[in-house]
Amino acid sequence: MTIQALKGFKDILPDEVRAWQHIEATAREIFHRFGFTEIRVPILEKTELFARSIGEATDIVEKEMYSFADRNGDSITMRPEGTASVLRAFIEHGLQAKLPVQRLYTIGPMFRHERPQKGRLRQFHQMSVEVLGLDHPRLDAELIAMGWLILDELGLSVSLQINSLGCPACRPAYKEALVNFLAARKELICEDCQRRSLTNPLRVLDCKSSHCQEQYVAAPSILDHLCPGCSEHFRQTKESLDLLAIPYAVNPFMVRGLDYYTRTTFELVTDALGAQSAVGAGGRYDGLVEKLGGAKNMPGIGFAMGMERLALLMTQQNEGGCPDSASDLFVAALGEEAAVAVFPLVHFLRRKGLRVAMDLEGKSLKSQMKQADRAKARYALILGEEELARGEAVLRDMTSKEQQAVPLAGAPEGLCAMLVEAIAPKGK
Ligand code: HAM
Repeated sequence: MTIQALKGFKDILPDEVRAWQHIEATAREIFHRFGFTEIRVPILEKTELFARSIGEATDIVEKEMYSFADRNGDSITMRPEGTASVLRAFIEHGLQAKLPVQRLYTIGPMFRHERPQKGRLRQFHQMSVEVLGLDHPRLDAELIAMGWLILDELGLSVSLQINSLGCPACRPAYKEALVNFLAARKELICEDCQRRSLTNPLRVLDCKSSHCQEQYVAAPSILDHLCPGCSEHFRQTKESLDLLAIPYAVNPFMVRGLDYYTRTTFELVTDALGAQSAVGAGGRYDGLVEKLGGAKNMPGIGFAMGMERLALLMTQQNEGGCPDSASDLFVAALGEEAAVAVFPLVHFLRRKGLRVAMDLEGKSLKSQMKQADRAKARYALILGEEELARGEAVLRDMTSKEQQAVPLAGAPEGLCAMLVEAIAPKGK
């Protein structure tokens, strides 16, 4: 019997990987443009790290984490997200002493035991960014604009929803108003929401039940409860987004699935992926560094993009639109002598930066031309016994089918220079 991958764990196959590489390369390049540097953090952490940061009464911590006792009996967890680990590393290594503001990004797999469906996996990949040490609202807008730019450069169109979740000074009053609202409708909401109204009331607004959502249309809005500081911060964030011409909709009922957020939160959403609408999401978390044992008054903000969802969107909206991994040249050698002659030439051309494919077994010309088509080669260099005797090879343009003879005599460098000149894509 064959062994299959675990449910919700997916292989990224060769025909998908091109889109993945393109997404990652585009994002990395943009992160660097905005002054971010990469940090790589472990996949396994102490369970407590996530319980303390994401929140005990969240779906992630309550029921989605891959947690287990290691051989010493310590409870450890496969990270369900990146923020907690990056902040742990930031505190542990005293990174704030190195630069007053840190701009960090990390890319890698995350693990959540959710019910798998389109765009929702148990092992998924995030590209996530964090900025520590600055609470200016212009930073919130800059970060959102960076996410927007990544999607734009990938050719994807999504919409942006923003909200403010206030701070420890103003949120308690909002919670109280919400709890009173829920208590008055106890009979009309689902059991989960009844339970959440006691443990983590904001979470109810995320409930998937349409009955509950019908009730919550009339729920009090956090935006009516913001303290002057949060209200002004939100106003300036929106104003800065306007300056950058980033369109947004304010959604006062957008609460995030993680408890650490304060003030600005946002989601980049699409209706093209069914229920899994967020391709990226994040927000400010001003008290989190302190909560994890780091400096007091250390603001932070970040977001993460889901690579599976971006790759799905690329295929849907953009026909996978990313650069081709086609070969520049296919070298077809006919016969052992010709193969021996071109084998080092192929290596030389690869060292010069060309994408070169070659049939190592010396199959028939017909078979090799088929391989050249499959490799989407722009040119083929054909070398048979006759050509070898004449001291030349045939260079064929695979699109126009035009052919020209190229001399093999002289130093390989000369031939290489000529081939590189003839076939290198412009700008290479
Ligand atoms: P999150 O909203 O839980 O936030 O996840 C961010 C993104 O990861 C989502 O918008 C989605 O694209 C992707 N994602 C989440 N769960 C799955 C899944 N099961 N399958 C596929 N994709 C998924 C965070 O994780 C925060 N750490 C973001 C952040 C960074 N906030 C501040 N800094």
